[in-house]
Amino acid sequence: MKITMVGSGYVGLVTGACFAEFGFDVTCVDKDKRKIKALNQGKIPIYEPGLESLVAQGVKNKRLSFTEDLIHSVKDANVVMIAVGTPSRRGDGHADLSYVYEAAREIATAINGYTVIVTKSTVPVGTSEEVTAIIKRERPELVEGVDFDVASNPEFLREGSAIQDFMRPDRVVIGTDNQKARDMMQRLYRPLYLIETPILFTNKPTAELIKYAANGFLALKISFINQMADLCEQAGADVQELAKGMGLDNRIGRKFLNVSPGYGGSCFPKDTLALSKTAHDLGTPCTIIDAVIEANKQRKINMAQRILTKLNERSIAKPRVAILGITFKPNTDDMRDAASLVIIPELLSKGVDVTVYDPLYFKDCDRLPHLAMQGVDWADRVTFAPSARDCIKEMDAVIILTEWNEFRGINLGEIRDTLATPAGHLPLLIDFRNIYKPNEVSGMCYISLGRPEVNG
Ligand SMILES: NC(=O)c1ccc[n+]([C@@H]2O[C@H](COP(=O)([O-])OP(=O)(O)OC[C@H]3O[C@@H](n4cnc5c(N)ncnc54)[C@H](O)[C@@H]3O)[C@@H](O)[C@H]2O)c1
Repeated sequence: MKITMVGSGYVGLVTGACFAEFGFDVTCVDKDKRKIKALNQGKIPIYEPGLESLVAQGVKNKRLSFTEDLIHSVKDANVVMIAVGTPSRRGDGHADLSYVYEAAREIATAINGYTVIVTKSTVPVGTSEEVTAIIKRERPELVEGVDFDVASNPEFLREGSAIQDFMRPDRVVIGTDNQKARDMMQRLYRPLYLIETPILFTNKPTAELIKYAANGFLALKISFINQMADLCEQAGADVQELAKGMGLDNRIGRKFLNVSPGYGGSCFPKDTLALSKTAHDLGTPCTIIDAVIEANKQRKINMAQRILTKLNERSIAKPRVAILGITFKPNTDDMRDAASLVIIPELLSKGVDVTVYDPLYFKDCDRLPHLAMQGVDWADRVTFAPSARDCIKEMDAVIILTEWNEFRGINLGEIRDTLATPAGHLPLLIDFRNIYKPNEVSGMCYISLGRPEVNG
């Protein structure tokens, strides 16, 4: 079976490499010439653990290739997956489907023999029907069910553990109402069926909505624990224990109950927004999701405010702070909607001097020029340090924004000893990921989330 992946970003590249590993012939297409050139030179344009070797393996076995030529690769394919971006549309927050529709038009021109076109991108309910309509408009002679079918197959992988998530998913969701397409999709996922992965067949609108409902619910869980953290701080409670006490209830579960400076990344912010828009458009507003979106936006602003309040108490003329971690979560280079995108500009605007270290963004590293493409407009206004140790040296405060493992091992005594200690104050460590235990810290002002402040 031949698969063409249209779009070779996080999802297209990871799923393409994984399908090649399953033994299928996969061609990954992208209209970004530089990306295809890099991939053909064996360079992986994104950071994802294990991806480089998986791609190399697929290429070596001649099961994985990369091209800009969509037309040729679609002509030969049995399954064409659309894995292009669906960012928030500027102005109204709806999912921008222009890339999906453009891909559908291009695919339509090249269909040659029965082909299943699969929407793998996260797309609002009704998109698969629109893709069908586009194909019929472009190629009126093609008959649905004979020459082509459209199926929905949303992707649930997480950046940072994408390969594991694809190879051992909790479930696979497939939306189709046609037996031929269903058989083809079943063949595609047979390796997962063999390891007893639940494969849920449903209709297209349900498959499309499952993805948004799942992300909306996870975003809600994050925002819920974040608000519980605020409550814990006022009530003298400990959010870590609270999360444990809640999560041990099987009906709730422990995952996604980690307190944070707000969710970010390439999915939750845009998907919650798109879910809210769809619900409003269909006359059934999801007011819970609306509240989650607002709470998360406010959370990032509150976090910046919290840092500023602490610094102001110290009356330092030009405070210098070390920021450890700027990506939206560890094990990814993705900066989309990261809390750092709100917190750092706010600190800079109030005259704070910021030094940054992230295991994937540090002094002179070759990723720094790409920050601008990820919505970072402050890269030239901060200093990038070569290491965490250099970053924290003689600062007025250390602020942890991303829970990279590397930071868990930093010697707390070293932080305490290098930080500035203004008269009447203790060295200031602000940990927005609760990576340390309060009883490990001594001789510092340690601020974490949802737990009492430590002073001493
Ligand atoms: N990133 C994730 O963790 C994740 C997880 C699950 C689902 N998704 C969803 O998957 C979709 C893709 O996300 P992503 O993070 O991989 O996006 P991405 O921005 O990393 O990659 C999209 C790629 O598609 C290419 N492209 C756009 N139009 C094209 C066209 N007409 N022909 C060929 N290539 C084209 C772009 O050049 C880009 O390389 C989105 O809908 C997203 O919501 C993402």
